[in-house]
Amino acid sequence: MKFLIIYAHPNPKSLNAEIKREVERTLAKKGGEVKILDLYKEAFNAELPLKELYTIGNHDTSEVIKKHQQLILWSDWLIFIYPTWWYNMPAILKGWCDRVFTSHFAYKFTPKKIPYFGNIPLGLLKGKKALIINTYSSPFLAEQIYGGAGHKVLGKNILRFCGISPVKHLGFYRLAVVDAERIGKILEKVRKTVESLA
Ligand SMILES: Cc1cc2nc3c(=O)[nH]c(=O)nc-3n(C[C@H](O)[C@H](O)[C@H](O)COP(=O)(O)O)c2cc1C
Repeated sequence: MKFLIIYAHPNPKSLNAEIKREVERTLAKKGGEVKILDLYKEAFNAELPLKELYTIGNHDTSEVIKKHQQLILWSDWLIFIYPTWWYNMPAILKGWCDRVFTSHFAYKFTPKKIPYFGNIPLGLLKGKKALIINTYSSPFLAEQIYGGAGHKVLGKNILRFCGISPVKHLGFYRLAVVDAERIGKILEKVRKTVESLA
């Protein structure tokens, strides 16, 4: 199996960095092929330039985006690891989605129309699966009450829209204070989840 890790955190000493290292260790033992897109490390430019806007069929997509799209096509599993910032993904990851999941690469609109909706979309990344691992400082309930945007925008509105299924989610809450025991439990859950990916 082929795994592409998409990682968005600037601090190598963060909990997210520990989670990423645990995912890498587990995949190495599992025996899969692994590639990593570390968006901060490669200083990914999150701005969607005018040249790439409304690109149909990828004509004006830049070389770096074509390379990342090839990595998506290569993979069986996309594993996202990121902290929740203002109840969403970090801007660098959102910008990556803006630039990489382009029309006619990740989705297209079919000629068939339905009333009040318009053309029916078709996800083009069928057969790919995803795991989202993200962290929050505030309680789980806040995520439930205020709409759960922290992973739902990426999971439902982007990945599922593009045909990726299933999209699994692992969220870690109440992270204002974490001790070694708590980190151990978090990493154990990460390990078990990654071991179970098939
Ligand atoms: C800019 C910014 C915005 C944040 N917004 C939220 C938020 O909306 N909800 C939340 O639960 N935590 C929020 N946090 C806290 C982070 O989610 C938390 O620090 C992180 O998940 C802990 O993981 P880390 O040690 O790997 O950074 C925010 C942190 C920053 C820096």
